[in-house]
Amino acid sequence: MKRTAVTLVLTLGLLSWVVSAQDQGGRPDRSERPRQREGRRPGGVEGPPGDRGRAGQPDFSSSPLPKDDAEKKILAVLDDMNRNERGGMMSVPLNDGRYLRLLTESIAPKRVVEIGTSHGYSAIWLCLALRSTGGKLTTYEVDAGRAALARKNFARAGVDSIVTLVEGDAHKEVTKLKEPIDLLFLDADKEGYLDYLEKLLPLVRAGGLILAHNMNARQADPAYVKAITTNPKLETLFVNLGGSGIGMTLKKR
Ligand SMILES: C[S@@+](CC[C@H](N)C(=O)[O-])C[C@H]1O[C@@H](n2cnc3c(N)ncnc32)[C@H](O)[C@@H]1O
Repeated sequence: MKRTAVTLVLTLGLLSWVVSAQDQGGRPDRSERPRQREGRRPGGVEGPPGDRGRAGQPDFSSSPLPKDDAEKKILAVLDDMNRNERGGMMSVPLNDGRYLRLLTESIAPKRVVEIGTSHGYSAIWLCLALRSTGGKLTTYEVDAGRAALARKNFARAGVDSIVTLVEGDAHKEVTKLKEPIDLLFLDADKEGYLDYLEKLLPLVRAGGLILAHNMNARQADPAYVKAITTNPKLETLFVNLGGSGIGMTLKKR
């Protein structure tokens, strides 16, 4: 009887792990999983209990549906990257990529800047939006091997004409940017986020967005969290789609 109970507990544990891994869009990356789900985050202000909603995953799920052949081709490349290229690339989970596309397409930016290209997974999600809005992406990567792989992925997804990949240290390279930014996506060295913010916030247009990946208690730099949660000219919300958390900051008009 005792043995049956132990087996049942182990089976349920394994099942819930498998479901959680599927929600991440592939194999679970331990470094991407939040260490704590509940409780106060640095800089966070908790609302009343009734505001918190139900903890855990949403009740419904959905998958990307291509509206035409071009989208089909891009989604097929993303699917291939998600399944076969993830190892060592630290790319955003599937749902975070979908979220980037959704936000980007809805604000129809002309200029998007991404810090941390890796093999181009999140960049291609951004491009899925930008190809419809007529916008352009500039993305920065310090690692030559990853930059080369990203270039190949941009070409096979057919988005290379709307992406400029700058190879080099983004802390230095971004100082050459002069034009306004509609959306900034930070996904490189976590301890560098504050420097990127200080260098690029003046270029982000009023009404523009700054999205920061890996905003969880284990990975986020408290100095960055403080900067985006204590400046009255900014409005910041943290979202977690079952991945590692995104800080969404609006530069108020
Ligand atoms: C988390 S990965 C980016 C994943 C990518 N955004 C995606 O979802 O496909 C972070 C990347 O930032 C790059 N990186 C780290 N420090 C950098 C720097 N100072 N300048 C440019 N790239 C940097 C790393 O080489 C790595 O490829």
